[in-house]
Amino acid sequence: MKINHNFRELLDKCRLPVMIAPMFLVSGPDIVVAAGEAGVLGAFPAPNARNIDVLNEWMSKTEQAAQGKHWALNMIVHRSYERFSKELELVERYRPSIVSTALGSPRRVLDVVHGYGGIVMADVTTPTFARKAIDAGADVLVLVTNGAGGHTGFYHPFALVDEIRKFWSGPLGLAGAVSRGKDIRAAQMLGADFVVMGTRFLATKESLSSVAYREMLVDSSIEDLVASKAVSGVMANWLRRSLEAQGGFLDEPQAQATEINFAGDISVAPKAWKDVWSAGHGVGAITKVQSVAEVVDQLYDEYLLCLRDESIALASLLGERRA
Ligand SMILES: Cc1cc2nc3c(=O)[nH]c(=O)nc-3n(C[C@H](O)[C@H](O)[C@H](O)COP(=O)(O)O)c2cc1C
Repeated sequence: MKINHNFRELLDKCRLPVMIAPMFLVSGPDIVVAAGEAGVLGAFPAPNARNIDVLNEWMSKTEQAAQGKHWALNMIVHRSYERFSKELELVERYRPSIVSTALGSPRRVLDVVHGYGGIVMADVTTPTFARKAIDAGADVLVLVTNGAGGHTGFYHPFALVDEIRKFWSGPLGLAGAVSRGKDIRAAQMLGADFVVMGTRFLATKESLSSVAYREMLVDSSIEDLVASKAVSGVMANWLRRSLEAQGGFLDEPQAQATEINFAGDISVAPKAWKDVWSAGHGVGAITKVQSVAEVVDQLYDEYLLCLRDESIALASLLGERRA
């Protein structure tokens, strides 16, 4: 049966307007199911399943455990990615309510996802890419801004949201160093409908990150990061000490970008991501390993405090005007 999902209605059902970002080698079914239980959206990247049979198992498991809750599959739509067609067949079978696309045009998934009433979400970093995603038929845009973990954006969120809102009134997500309840509220103030949070959930118990990675996250702050194209071919933020542990520190001006290419066996995780670890500017918000539910509870409390402070500020402003 075809159900046409409406993203804003779907967000209204969440406890907070939050999606836990899909993260390479970090997110799998457990984090997605935990997200649903905690009242937020979750996503995992399809390439995290080491082959198509494992992806089949993961999607089946997620679908059953989600019990009707909404979740997202993140797909690489780059033309060099060989598993794309097989992954799309699984999308048609399991019908995740949201398919988010990375590193290419969302057009390639549109017919299939819209065919069963699903939502297509596209990550973009610039107004030009946003326009392309809209022209291709994306339903939801996620703005990846400066300071984001993984493949980062470069524009400041204040300016980028404004630019995009000049031509896009549809659902808009903001990603990049969103770490606390007040950041979620700030994103809404800027004009976003929801936030996509990666780094804050990197060290959660349900993530696939290693003990050593989690320890480094807990011990790191914004000054422990280095931004470089040289590790994966695309500008990304990395934990400096994980780079050093692999034999060196990348001096940015000398670092050469390698070309993006997803051809070949994706099950052999590249050294980047597996041994060199990424985190965004919000890494300082990670002070211990927590469950997804604990992080979401904390975000919820922080968000409520913001609303309380706003209502106090409003009452005092109006009171002063009357006096
Ligand atoms: C370790 C790591 C891996 C990531 N892998 C992916 C990925 O496979 N696909 C994708 O679309 N985004 C990926 N991202 C980016 C996130 O989807 C999101 O844009 C980002 O985490 C938001 O910024 P934040 O980390 O500051 O919250 C990754 C981010 C991190 C930190």
